[in-house]
Amino acid sequence: MSTQEIIKQLKQEKDAVILAHYYVAPEVQAVADYVGDSFYLSRLAAGLPNKTLVFCGVSFMGESGKLLSPDKTVLMPDMEADCPMAHMVTEAAVRAAREAYDDLAVVCYVNSTAQIKSWSDVCVTSANAVKIVESLPNAHILFIPDKNLARYVAEQVPDKHIIIPDGYCPVHEEMRADEIRELREQHPEAKVLAHPECNAQVLEMADYIGSTSGIIDFAAKSDEKEFIIATEEGVLYELEQKRPDAGFYFARTRPVCEGMKRITLEKIVHVLKTGENSLHVEEAHAEPAGDTLRRMLDLAAEKGKS
Ligand code: 13P
Ligand code: SF4
Repeated sequence: MSTQEIIKQLKQEKDAVILAHYYVAPEVQAVADYVGDSFYLSRLAAGLPNKTLVFCGVSFMGESGKLLSPDKTVLMPDMEADCPMAHMVTEAAVRAAREAYDDLAVVCYVNSTAQIKSWSDVCVTSANAVKIVESLPNAHILFIPDKNLARYVAEQVPDKHIIIPDGYCPVHEEMRADEIRELREQHPEAKVLAHPECNAQVLEMADYIGSTSGIIDFAAKSDEKEFIIATEEGVLYELEQKRPDAGFYFARTRPVCEGMKRITLEKIVHVLKTGENSLHVEEAHAEPAGDTLRRMLDLAAEKGKS
């Protein structure tokens, strides 16, 4: 039996489904039942009927699944698949901002630990950050942990005071503007599609800024034939399926998320067989962090924000 067939059989036996982010390796996306961006995966996890969710992504994604479905078993193919940015906030910084402003909302990017979510008022993803921040009644917003997404939101919502943090995604922060510029010179017709986690110099060159699914949708619906993609290279798998006729170009220093690439088919087989790596969220964080995430889902549903 092939590894793919073994996974299929194990999924049936264990009443399991596989959820994968667009940044995992193509062969992992190919065996997944659902592939999507962070918002899609969070929303989906809240409503799936299966007993077991195998989360092919980094730990904050599995945690979000567990927070929204505490009765389900969430299996992580690799417990060390982590997002460095998800830890880049201190409680002291949150406390200081709350003391400085009476009217403060702490808005937490979903790329954060359950503990950081437990200190926050509402979560956002890159797909809904602007609209959710816009809809909050608060004038002062501490946006954690991503400085680039925070700055992008601040530009889009100029009537609010957004406190910009220090955190960043190494993959998007270190993307080189000179390499994107070089690509534009080589492909003058190409549209630049960028994730808002990119540094300011790269975002300045973007024709479109959006989440991973936003980037994929933009390319899928566009009449253009060439795209420069400023996000993690894993999106290429879906882009090529949606637009086999188009050319997609990435920076020479290939943007690769090491945490996402730790997920392999063999590790999926192992956790499905053994039930190892079942994710638990510390009790003290589970309820407040779950509330922060549910507030995002409620606001998104209420306002029709995706
Ligand atoms: P999305 O919100 O587009 O899924 O992005 C998640 C992520 O980790 C980006 O680096
Ligand atoms: Fe974290 Fe960046 Fe990897 Fe996304 S691409 S999971 S933000 S390190």
